Amino acid sequence: MVHDLADALTAQGVDPAGVHQETFTASPTPRPSAPQQSGHDSVVTVILDGAVTEVAAHRNEPILNAALRAGVPVPYSCRSGDCFTCEARLLAGQVTHRQATPGPPGTPARVLPCQSQPAANRIVLDFDHA
Ligand code: FES
Repeated sequence: MVHDLADALTAQGVDPAGVHQETFTASPTPRPSAPQQSGHDSVVTVILDGAVTEVAAHRNEPILNAALRAGVPVPYSCRSGDCFTCEARLLAGQVTHRQATPGPPGTPARVLPCQSQPAANRIVLDFDHA
């Protein structure tokens, strides 16, 4: 279109030196695609009051936060690992603890979700039988 207009102007007697043209083309470099990740690293299955809910969780956040963000009303109080209100049984997967969690010997499958972060792609926590 720009070239057609320049031709039309010069055909009408306009001095070609006075017709300035500026054209643009698309960059041949493709734009990077948007990230495909959901931003979550793990799926935590929460069993609470007989209901089973899957919750997406980041590996750098307490599982309690992920459950609450998803709207699962898991029990909690101190959020600092002191009250054991959030205690749950770890049925599958692995978690890491922000701090050492004291507990009865021989019960390593009990975790405090307020102090635990996902360490596996899939985790199952049972709040009904902690
Ligand atoms: S909320 Fe108190 S120990 Fe987790």
